[in-house]
Parts: sequence; structure tokens; C-alpha cells
Amino acid sequence: MPAYLTDHSARPSLFGLLVVACHVLQPLALKGKDVLEVGCGRGGGAAFLARYHRPGTLLGVDLSPKAIAWCRKRHVLPGVEFREGRAEALPCSDSAVDVVVNVESSHCYASMSGFLSEVARVLRPGGHFAFCDLRTATGWARMRPGFDAAGLEILQEECINGPVVQALSIVQYNQQVDITHCLR
Ligand SMILES: C[S@@+](CC[C@H](N)C(=O)[O-])C[C@H]1O[C@@H](n2cnc3c(N)ncnc32)[C@H](O)[C@@H]1O
Repeated sequence: MPAYLTDHSARPSLFGLLVVACHVLQPLALKGKDVLEVGCGRGGGAAFLARYHRPGTLLGVDLSPKAIAWCRKRHVLPGVEFREGRAEALPCSDSAVDVVVNVESSHCYASMSGFLSEVARVLRPGGHFAFCDLRTATGWARMRPGFDAAGLEILQEECINGPVVQALSIVQYNQQVDITHCLR
């Protein structure tokens, strides 16, 4: 089993694992790049990216002030910063980042089109947007043209139900290990 799946200190959320499992980020080679994670939650994914992909800078943004306060306390890592902000009005200047990551968060947004145009605004030319979330096939088909409209070209798309099941069993295994440790 790869080390990142059993490293409890950097273990990302279930969907963070999925991103890895699907190798979405691997080909993007984040090393030295400026990365933005929108909807970073408790920061497990951001900490994971910082430890295992070594970006130059990583900014985690979330709507929740409590989540941001937690992240600032929990994940003190070189080049990593957390900021409160909305996906539909990102707290970043134009063309500021090479990669935007967005994992299991966009279903909460008031405006998906507003978010996509913000992604296009903050990305540098040639930048990448790595996105995954819960959508039905119909929901995805309805949402797809929004990427075009924002000027984002879809390079790769994949249904990740299989890796979801795989990640669930890994998470369940790790939780059993955690519980066993507590009982000792
Ligand atoms: C299910 S959590 C996922 C967190 C993280 N991406 C992960 O995979 O563990 C969804 C996160 O999206 C954030 N969120 C919801 N609406 C948002 C918005 N409009 N702008 C920024 N973050 C938002 C929530 O506060 C929450 O932390």
C-alpha cells in the first residue's frame, strides 16, 4: 500500500484520497507551482498536497471561519496559507495560480457559473483546474457547458464511482486501525 494512504498525520478526506486514486493531480506535477484549493474544509487535502506534491505555495480557501481557524492551527507547513473566502468571489488576484483544486465542495455553491468564471480569472494562462464532486450523469451533462462558457477546456473527465468504493474500504481499514490503537 502506498505510504500516503497510511500516513495518519497527512491523511486527507475520502475525496482527497479519490483525487489521488484517480491520478488527477499526478500528471499535473505540482512541484514548485502555485496551487489554490477552494473549499479546503479542515485542510487534510491541502496538507496532503503540501507534503506529497511539494507545490511552491498552497493557498486553502473556505467559507467557514471555523474551518480556516482550524487549518491555521493544525497545518503549519512551509508555503501553506489559509484564507477565508467564497468560491464565487475568490480572495486572489487575476492570473495568480497555476492549479486550482476543488474537491467535494461545489455542490454547496450558490452559483456554479460564478465559481467557474472565478477559476478562469485566477488561473494563469496554461493553468489547470482539478475538480471532483458528486453529480448525477444528468447533473454533469447540465453543468458541462458551463466550463466552455467560462473559457475552461475539459481535457479529461472520468466517473470515479469505482475509486470511491476503493477509498471507502481504505478509510474503513484505517478507522479500524485507529480504534484498535485506542483500545490498547
Ligand atoms: C464536504 S466539505 C469538503 C472539504 C474538503 N474539500 C475535503 O475534501 O475534505 C465542503 C467544504 O466546502 C466549503 N464551502 C461551501 N460553500 C462554499 C463557498 N461558497 N465558498 C467556499 N467554500 C465553501 C464548506 O465550508 C466545506 O468546508
